[in-house]
Amino acid sequence: MEKIIDEKKQGNSLVMEAKSENSRKLFIESYGCQMNFSDSEIVASILSKEGFNTTQNLEEADLVLVNTCSIREKAEQTVRKRLEKYNAVKRINPGMKVGVLGCMAERLKSKFLEEEKIVDLVVGPDAYKDLPNLINEVEEGRNAVNVILSKEETYGDISPVRLQSNGVSAFVSITRGCDNMCTFCVVPFTRGRERSRDPQSIVEEVNDLAAKGYKEITLLGQNVDSYLWYGGGLKKDFKNASEIQKATATNFAGLLKFVAEAQPKMRIRFSTSNPQDMTLDVIEVMANYRNICNYIHLPVQSGSDRILKKMNRLHTREEYFTLIDNIRKLIPDCGISHDIITGFPTETEEDHQDTLSLMEYVKYDFGFMFAYSERPGTMAERKFEDDVPEEIKKRRLTEIVNLQQEHSRHNTQKFIGKTVEVLIEKESKKSDAHWSGRNSQNTVVVFPKENYQVGDFVNVKINDCTSATLIGEAVGYSKNN
Ligand code: SAH
Ligand code: F3S
Repeated sequence: MEKIIDEKKQGNSLVMEAKSENSRKLFIESYGCQMNFSDSEIVASILSKEGFNTTQNLEEADLVLVNTCSIREKAEQTVRKRLEKYNAVKRINPGMKVGVLGCMAERLKSKFLEEEKIVDLVVGPDAYKDLPNLINEVEEGRNAVNVILSKEETYGDISPVRLQSNGVSAFVSITRGCDNMCTFCVVPFTRGRERSRDPQSIVEEVNDLAAKGYKEITLLGQNVDSYLWYGGGLKKDFKNASEIQKATATNFAGLLKFVAEAQPKMRIRFSTSNPQDMTLDVIEVMANYRNICNYIHLPVQSGSDRILKKMNRLHTREEYFTLIDNIRKLIPDCGISHDIITGFPTETEEDHQDTLSLMEYVKYDFGFMFAYSERPGTMAERKFEDDVPEEIKKRRLTEIVNLQQEHSRHNTQKFIGKTVEVLIEKESKKSDAHWSGRNSQNTVVVFPKENYQVGDFVNVKINDCTSATLIGEAVGYSKNN
């Protein structure tokens, strides 16, 4: 599991196909969640029209942008180290400009410019369309900052350029921001109010990806189940919505159906689901469409009702179990993963045992596990003392990671002897004679290449496994090809 956590934190310099008329060079790196990676594709699209091609070579960049994450203190430290590195290069190449994008930009605002003097440009997640103006300011010798959050911006009209893509899987963002206010979480402050994107523009993007040969899309949002389109705007603006608006509204189940029907050969995934908002009709739509993958990322954060309440997670342990039971009933082979935080303020040994017993009940396929990190400005920081000692947080984290590993192994073993459909994504990291892809449940599958190609749907018979990977051999193309 540590490996997965590491991967989530990894930065990645990203490149797109070069336009010959462009002469300026952009080095763009992303840290944090999938939404940041997706946003960087929007930024690259905006800047491609401003004469920038992407480069993977920091030394030759005219503009360096880092898309940042504030979710835990460690994520911010990682970005600070990168900023030091950029500034070292800038001393050799003084023409180079450095900009911070995303959640840290939003959280620290002009502090980067005034106190730290380590960047030229600070741009929050809703201000990317202003980048051309901001870059002009910087080029004229002024520092530039725009961290205004928007209630409407969804970038629905921007066609993202795909950065370092395998040409097979792509992210499509469907909502921005979050209204949930989990007490530990900085996202509502850095990404602003929740808003949904026009379903028509979502389907157009998916159709365009299909036409370019993509085979799998992941619909992205902080809380996809609260997707709601009434013709635009914030949900609260429509408290008195007319019956017509209500009748024509699209919720997440409706959107899933719309997308699945538009591209029946495309695999559809989505992330992230919040247990309090996930409804039966979403599970029913998943069960009814074979191209919607049987996989749900369903963060629980804690197994203790007392802690869930303090986290402002608006469901109980029992309600979570009911949801899991419904998923298992309607989609018996559904892959389920989680996020869990250990050491939230006041967490006792008993609360921790509740988390372990919840994990025993669900037997998740995999998960992302974190020690609580107090974030400035959050409700938890203002109201609760960060009182669980670091070594206890770490010990509890180790216990849940170990238990998850046991469950992962147990779940992957269940596939031995079975044949699963795999979409080939890339060469296996460990062997250039093997392909790597995922089954519908999102478990990685590796198998000998033979004559198959990236982007093929292949039936693979599973012969062996580790806790995280299935190992098998292809037995032919799947009928989805
Ligand atoms: N709904 C979002 C959640 C983003 S944060 C999504 O799309 O996934 C991802 C995970 O980071 C959360 O589910 C939570 O488990 C963890 N996290 C958030 N704030 C944290 C904090 N202050 N300390 C430790 N982990 C945190
Ligand atoms: Fe954060 Fe909770 Fe939203 S974890 S992103 S406030 S659903």
